[in-house]
Amino acid sequence: MQWKALALALLVERGFGQGMFPMMRFSCSQLVVDRLDPLVTPGSIPSPHLHQIVGGNSFNASMDPATHDLPSSSTCTSCTFSEDFSNYWTAVLFFKARNGTYKRVPQFASEGLRADGGITVYYIPAADGRSNVTAFKPGFRMLVGDAAATAPGSARKVCHRCMPKTGDNSNINCGAPDSQALPAGQCAGGIRSVITFPTCWDGVNTDSPDHMSHVAYPEGSNGNDVGAAGNCPASHPVKIPQVMLEVMWDTRPFNDKSIWPEDGSQPFVWSTNDKDGYSQHGDYVFGWEGDSLQRAMDARCNGAVCNALKTQSSEAAMKCTKPRVVEEDIDGWTTSIPGQTM
Ligand SMILES: *[C@@H]1O[C@H](CO)[C@@H](O)[C@H](O)[C@H]1NC(C)=O
Ligand SMILES: *[C@@H]1O[C@H](CO)[C@@H](O)[C@H](O)[C@H]1NC(C)=O
Ligand SMILES: *[C@@H]1O[C@H](CO)[C@@H](O)[C@H](O)[C@H]1NC(C)=O
Repeated sequence: MQWKALALALLVERGFGQGMFPMMRFSCSQLVVDRLDPLVTPGSIPSPHLHQIVGGNSFNASMDPATHDLPSSSTCTSCTFSEDFSNYWTAVLFFKARNGTYKRVPQFASEGLRADGGITVYYIPAADGRSNVTAFKPGFRMLVGDAAATAPGSARKVCHRCMPKTGDNSNINCGAPDSQALPAGQCAGGIRSVITFPTCWDGVNTDSPDHMSHVAYPEGSNGNDVGAAGNCPASHPVKIPQVMLEVMWDTRPFNDKSIWPEDGSQPFVWSTNDKDGYSQHGDYVFGWEGDSLQRAMDARCNGAVCNALKTQSSEAAMKCTKPRVVEEDIDGWTTSIPGQTM
C-alpha cells in the first residue's frame, strides 16, 4: 500500500524511530465543478473563479453557518468515510494552448485509491502519537492560501510536484522537490498539488473574517510540517487535526510541445487566472456527523480503513454528485477561463 510507503518516508524524514505514524488518507470523488464559494463569497452566484468541490451534497452557494447543518442537510457524500459530509474545495487547473484557447485539466485519483477525480484528504492526529487532538466543532471552517497571490508565501503550505511516470507520492510536506510555482517542464505523471491546513486553534471561534486568523501553524514549524509536533502559540492553544488536501491533475494529455507556448514556458493556469501557481488555495467546511471525527482521531485511524468509522464503497462515493448551478462552458476549448476576462 502506497500510504505505508508514504508514512515510512515521513518517519524517516522526521526521525520518528518507533511505530507507525498514523494518518487517515482517503479519497473524495468529484461532487461538482462549479463557480461557487460559500466561504469567501457566500451567496454569490457566480463566485469570481471556478472551484472543484468534494464531500457532502448539501454544498451550495450560501451555507450560512448559523443554519446550514451539513450532516443533516446532505443525503450523500463523495468521500470514503460516509459520516464525512464536510466540503473541501480548491482552484481548478487549465491548459492554455499555443493558439490561445483554454481547456480544463481533468483530475485523477491518487495512487492506491479509486475515485472519480476529486481530492485525496488526509487527517493527521498529533505527531507524537500520544497527545490527542480536538476535533472541529459544527460550523468550523477555514481557508489556506490566497487566490490573489502573485508571489511565493513565506510558509510552504501550498505547493506543486512534477510527478514522475509512476510512484513518488512521498513527502507531502511541500519540501523538495515540490515548489510553490507551477512546474516549468512537462510532467510524465501529472502535477500534484498539496494544501496543508494549520493545526492550532484559538479554541473559541469557528471562523474569522479572513477565515484564517482563528487558526495558526505551530511555533517554529515551516507551516507545512506534516503532523507538526511543535507547540501551538499561546494565542491558539488547542491542537486540532491536521487536514491536508492532495489533488492530482492529469496534465499528461497536454504533454505535446507542438501546442505549448513557442517560448517554451509552461502552459498551465489556475482558474484564478494565475500562470505562476501561487494562487492555489484550499477551503474547508467541517461537516463530520456527531463525534465521528473525534473517534477516528482518538482511534489513530490510518489509511482508508478505520473501524471507528462507517465506510462506503468507492462506487457509492462516486455516485454522489450534484448538478452545476452556474451554467457556463467549463469543458470545451474556450477563449477565456470562466469568470476571467483576459
Ligand atoms: C443552501 O442550503 C440551505 C439549507 O440546505 C438552504 O436554506 C439555502 O437556501 C441554500 N442556498 C442556496 C443559495 O441554494
Ligand atoms: C487550439 O488548439 C487546440 C489544441 O491543439 C485545439 O484543440 C483547438 O481546436 C484549437 N482552437 C482553435 C480555435 O484553433
Ligand atoms: C487520548 O484519547 C484516548 C481515547 O479516548 C485515551 O485513551 C487516551 O488516554 C488519551 N490520551 C491522552 C494523552 O489524553
